[in-house]
Amino acid sequence: MTIASTPHTDIDLFSDDILTDPYPAYATLRDMGAAVHLNRIDAWALPRYEHIRAALHDWETFSSEAAVGLNDVVNGFLVGTVLGTDPPEHDKLRSVLSAQLAPRALQKVKAGIEAGADTLVDDLVHRGQFDAVTDLAAALPLSVVFDLIGLPEHARGDMLRWADGTFTVFGPMNERTQHGLTVIEEMFAWLGTLRAEGLKPGSMGRAIFDAAEAGVIAQDSCVPLLAAYTTAGMDTTINAIANAVQLFATHPDQWDTLRGNPDLTPSAFNEILRYDSPVQAFARKLTREVTIDDVHLPAGARVVLLYGSGNRDERHYPNPDSFDIHRNPVDHLTFGYGTHTCAGQALAKIEAHAILRALATRVRRIHIGDPKRHYNNVIRGLESLPVVHLDLNQ
Ligand code: HEM
Repeated sequence: MTIASTPHTDIDLFSDDILTDPYPAYATLRDMGAAVHLNRIDAWALPRYEHIRAALHDWETFSSEAAVGLNDVVNGFLVGTVLGTDPPEHDKLRSVLSAQLAPRALQKVKAGIEAGADTLVDDLVHRGQFDAVTDLAAALPLSVVFDLIGLPEHARGDMLRWADGTFTVFGPMNERTQHGLTVIEEMFAWLGTLRAEGLKPGSMGRAIFDAAEAGVIAQDSCVPLLAAYTTAGMDTTINAIANAVQLFATHPDQWDTLRGNPDLTPSAFNEILRYDSPVQAFARKLTREVTIDDVHLPAGARVVLLYGSGNRDERHYPNPDSFDIHRNPVDHLTFGYGTHTCAGQALAKIEAHAILRALATRVRRIHIGDPKRHYNNVIRGLESLPVVHLDLNQ
């Protein structure tokens, strides 16, 4: 079958217009077919839930090996990283920190994170007006991740810019990617100066260097692993929290439901993640030809897994565009699925649940001004979200 007779489009998923609101374009792609050729970047989009999940499950066909980004430069950077390798190499890299990020191990940091969320929210409630992105959503993940990885504090001021660059370079080689590449060079140069002794004893950062010392991983893997675990826990969690504030400010009935039933917090957070996935897309490369429904994809093709579209697929979720905290979509695609499923999801949940609970016990109504969107090739989130007034619980 030729491209002319298969679903294809000139749509630019990475343009400002589409990034502002990608959901109409996603709906069009889902209706066009199970796989749609994106002519501008010579890649195939998988827009439907069922096929994205199946692809994530089949790493042998949908390989991550230097293939998660949509340009060759970033894929070069990803060689030998946890995100950019297939088993068995992947499993070795992932094993270094997986136990420390498991829910049971995180129990020992949970109370500290909840106390941090309470103090932060108390302070912001007292102020009354603040920015939900910079003052609220960014503050907790930044301090939690720095603490867990044991990074020296002086890099805090640069980390958000570095994390933003790290994600945007996963896109095609557009202006955003080109700028992001200069930003991440800076980050890798800094990470390259770190030594085990410079990281807090008992931290995850130390565990990475210890694993290299013990010969479990190569010395060369230390910096990529540090980069992956540090940046992966920033913009993702930050945008999830900021999206939560925006969604509850604009859906006061849902906020009342949560305040009346705090046990719904995990369900509410799942719905927040489904509704507006902080990671909209990652890519894979086909190791063999496949036919998805009637669409034939050749071996070697680049495939874009549109998590954000799968989460709004009406074939899987009834009324996908409505925000409903009773839905509890535990099977959303926002953390990926299968081999590369998010290694830090238990941590992200502890942080977000803590913020939601701290807000719900204090705040009856959140009043916001105009949000400003942040443009990143793969991360969906806000630059700023002014909270102009809070009505407090009696
Ligand atoms: C709401 C917050 C988060 C979201 C939406 C998110 C999303 C994702 C997604 C979609 C993947 C799968 C990548 C793929 O399919 O190729 C992933 C992987 C990963 N995440 Fe997260 N993440 C979040 C928080 C975190 C945190 C807090 C950490 C660690 C501190 C983290 C560490 C990682 C790592 C290391 C991987 C790579 C796993 C592998 O390749 O085996 N993430 N994340």
